[in-house]
Amino acid sequence: MSYFTETTSVETVNERMSAETNPRLAEIMSSLVKHLHGFAKEVNLTQDEWDFAIGFLTKTGQMCSGERQEFILLSDVLGFSMLVDAINNRRPDGATENTVFGPFHVADAPIRQMGDTISLDGKGESCLFEGRVVDLDGNPIEGATVDVWSDNADGYYDVQQPGIQPKWNNRGRFITGADGQYSFVGIKPVSYPIPDDGPVGKMLGQLGRHPYRPAHMHYLVTAPGYEKLVTHTFVGGDEYLESDAVFGVKDTLIAPYEKVDNGSTLWRSPFDFVLVPDVK
Ligand code: BEZ
Ligand code: FE
Repeated sequence: MSYFTETTSVETVNERMSAETNPRLAEIMSSLVKHLHGFAKEVNLTQDEWDFAIGFLTKTGQMCSGERQEFILLSDVLGFSMLVDAINNRRPDGATENTVFGPFHVADAPIRQMGDTISLDGKGESCLFEGRVVDLDGNPIEGATVDVWSDNADGYYDVQQPGIQPKWNNRGRFITGADGQYSFVGIKPVSYPIPDDGPVGKMLGQLGRHPYRPAHMHYLVTAPGYEKLVTHTFVGGDEYLESDAVFGVKDTLIAPYEKVDNGSTLWRSPFDFVLVPDVK
């Protein structure tokens, strides 16, 4: 046993853990203590700075509600969500890559027929999204659920504007048949700011960072026997591709958007989703 000193701080705290502590919890907590103490020592953290940080974390918690998760936003803008996602979704070449889930998914969106329109507010430039859900060998996957969601032409999700946007605006689920094909009509997505009226937005401002995300369509693709795919397709040429507030952009997720103007839609965005077998 040793009393607490600046030099022995990590060992003193970690030795206090019981030998019966769950081994994984012990591994995580001892590493957390090591890095947290190392951080304070590296920057010579002042008492005022730590008080400020406690205030910031308190306000972050107080901002959370059923509709708002400020802690996830904090994790997102620090790149931590994308790091945890990368660690947990290492995939072989050719498989579609994951990206950040974000706070605006709503479970149990209406199941729609292939080719249906998800945009219910009549705003925006219509776009046909289509492609196939396939395995690594290019074989179609039948019975895959393609769950999609996007902001509207004003840059807001339906859940951010209840009573203004129709419920389930720009959302829907599509189930593939034997050909693995999916298709739906939405709008060409637009860039938008993540919610920045809380402590995380204030922090971004102080760091000289903007809160914008480049235009994207969200996808959650699931199929029995395959790993869950949480991803987006991005609009090439968007001004925020290289400075996404939450670091979600990957080269392979930038999709073509072709101008078609065929009388029913203005744009077409083809994209195939390649799933990997679930071996967990
Ligand atoms: C989104 O793309 O919906 C999103 C992702 C992270 C933070 C906020 C929004
Ligand atoms: Fe989004």
